[in-house]
Amino acid sequence: MATYHLGHAPIELARLTLQAELLRPITERLLRSAGLAPGMRVLEIGCGAGDVSFLAADLVGPQGRVVGIDRAPEAIQHATERARSGGLRNVTFYKGGPDIPLSGEEPFDFLIGRYVLVHQQDPVGFMRLATANLRPGGTLAFHEPDSSLIAPSRPPIPIYDAFNAQYHSATQTALAGKEAAFRLAAIFADCGLVSSEGFCERLVGLENSDLFFLWRATSYLAFKSGLYPDQATSDAAQLAADLQTAVRTVHGQVFGPDQWCLWAKLPA
Ligand SMILES: C[S@@+](CC[C@H](N)C(=O)[O-])C[C@H]1O[C@@H](n2cnc3c(N)ncnc32)[C@H](O)[C@@H]1O
Repeated sequence: MATYHLGHAPIELARLTLQAELLRPITERLLRSAGLAPGMRVLEIGCGAGDVSFLAADLVGPQGRVVGIDRAPEAIQHATERARSGGLRNVTFYKGGPDIPLSGEEPFDFLIGRYVLVHQQDPVGFMRLATANLRPGGTLAFHEPDSSLIAPSRPPIPIYDAFNAQYHSATQTALAGKEAAFRLAAIFADCGLVSSEGFCERLVGLENSDLFFLWRATSYLAFKSGLYPDQATSDAAQLAADLQTAVRTVHGQVFGPDQWCLWAKLPA
């Protein structure tokens, strides 16, 4: 399996949490639409800083349980500290991956992956292993990004459109499973599952969307350089400011990457 190209330095864990703030409404719609409900037992694979697991923990409530796993010990330590400082009792983090059986855990009702299949060289193999953790009739829900079809800005903003093109080419080397988002239905089918439903959304950037532009700029620099250069924070702030100024000047509307959200169920 591929390593996670962006590493787990504090700057990357912070980027994941900034990203999570923007993505939360979309992921929450996915989880609710796919039937996540109070009392369920949930597994998140590739939990990173823990934000999706925290969202799931809110939705399943005190009678439910969430386990987040990630193969990076830095991510697990960080997510565990956040759970502890937030006083969360229904979420636990372990170092692991879909290929490592979880000892002492019963099969889960619901499995979540966000921004994780795009990092797999073999997304089908990953998904097959992941389903082994689910009970019969359990649900898999995935939220994955794709930047190949981003529509032009309105009105045309050449600096932002050029940025989107460069962003996409940077992802082509950084993402081992770059097609996973728009192949989710096929990946489910290859695992013997039929996608029940799904949707695709885009975040938009407007002149006051500070977080949106910071997210796009930090993500671009991370993908482009693989690991963060020392001046990454100031470079990202400058790039975000340049993009936002260009949008503000024309009161423009610009797009972020497609957010593909699909779910499927195991046979009962
Ligand atoms: C982009 S982050 C997403 C984190 C989180 N799901 C979110 O959306 O905030 C991807 C995470 O998946 C983890 N990861 C990638 N492949 C994995 C695998 N095969 N097993 C476990 N973790 C994996 C990486 O270490 C990284 O922390």
